[in-house]
Amino acid sequence: MTIGVPREIKDHETRVGCVPSMVTTLREHGHEVLVEADAGAGSSIPDDEYEEAGASIVTGAEGVWAKSDLVVKVKEPQPSEYRFFRAGLTLFTYLHLAPLPELTDALVGAGVNAVAYETIREEDNSLPLLTPMSEVAGRMAVQVGAQYLEKPNGGRGILIGGVPGVAPANVAVIGGGTVGHNAIKMACGLGANVTVIDRNINRLRELDDIYSSAVLTLASNTYTIREAVRTADLVIGAVLIPGASAPKLVRRDMIASMRKGAVVVDVAIDQGGCFETSHATTHTDPIYYVDGVLHYCVSNMPAAVPHTSTFALTNATAPYLFALANKGLERACGDNQAIAEGVNTYQGTITYAGVAESQGKPWRTLNAVL
Ligand SMILES: NC(=O)c1ccc[n+]([C@@H]2O[C@H](COP(=O)([O-])OP(=O)(O)OC[C@H]3O[C@@H](n4cnc5c(N)ncnc54)[C@H](O)[C@@H]3O)[C@@H](O)[C@H]2O)c1
Repeated sequence: MTIGVPREIKDHETRVGCVPSMVTTLREHGHEVLVEADAGAGSSIPDDEYEEAGASIVTGAEGVWAKSDLVVKVKEPQPSEYRFFRAGLTLFTYLHLAPLPELTDALVGAGVNAVAYETIREEDNSLPLLTPMSEVAGRMAVQVGAQYLEKPNGGRGILIGGVPGVAPANVAVIGGGTVGHNAIKMACGLGANVTVIDRNINRLRELDDIYSSAVLTLASNTYTIREAVRTADLVIGAVLIPGASAPKLVRRDMIASMRKGAVVVDVAIDQGGCFETSHATTHTDPIYYVDGVLHYCVSNMPAAVPHTSTFALTNATAPYLFALANKGLERACGDNQAIAEGVNTYQGTITYAGVAESQGKPWRTLNAVL
């Protein structure tokens, strides 16, 4: 099979869908790999590393798309890429199709078999291709928060770990899932005074087993959130209710009760955010203030560290990519239900209920069209 790796063209997207070690493995299994020139540049992976691994470097996107059976990307195709769609092509990437009817129509109209990273679901209900980006964002949240707590960056001028004789910063993490846990790790590592709030008591038990007295665990309710926020130097919003908008757990009056120059990092902003005062920001213009409290609400935090994010993502995508390449889409789906769950469009039909329902379009199960 020929596997194509185009350069990402979405604004500010600097990750790449395949790294040189994956090229080596694909070559060992007898596949051809076409990598668009400069595809890895944004992630600090030069073309010659792909060439050494056995890839052919192709100038321009068209040559990659036209000659590939399977295209592996990071972000959903942009309108200028729709002209490369054709029947029988398999596309493996983040798609987030529900709010994108035009892209859905283009994929269905051309007969592209589109496998979405975000809907690959393992038997234990985990979403393995979303987890690595939550790990990156959770760790970044503390790093970013620590920077903005510095006076020259607009914060109240507190060193997150303190020093002997001076108290460290109070860090409150709301939501103790993947983002929250990774934020806790970083905050504890820097010596902060850490509180985690979650509505899932079993999750709090697990975190208590891991961190013991180093982290204060609190059940989520308006009272605990108000108290933790009021005394926090840094609040990290990390809640998720799958398939729903994030609940606005931190109300405006709670923000007003915080000290001037305190920082909130709303990682959950991609689901609408869990602070009443949040609105999405960009890496170009990442912060704003409400009642003197610095807000950082960037919805694609991992894009700031594309080298790490590319390797974190491709570590997770590699086994699924290899299955698709070695077995072909149909057999890969038959052998692995997680991959079947990833198929959003197949041979001109929507095969993922959530996408069809959100756009009011017909759909069929993958089994019905296979
Ligand atoms: N901004 C970014 O760049 C970026 C990057 C990655 C992930 N995210 C987002 O971060 C959010 C968290 O992702 P995750 O992978 O950690 O999810 P997760 O499912 O692993 O964890 C979410 C946690 O929130 C808890 N929760 C739900 N409702 C709550 C409530 N009322 N009070 C307290 N806790 C509550 C859950 O019990 C769970 O432990 C998601 O919205 C995700 O999309 C954003």
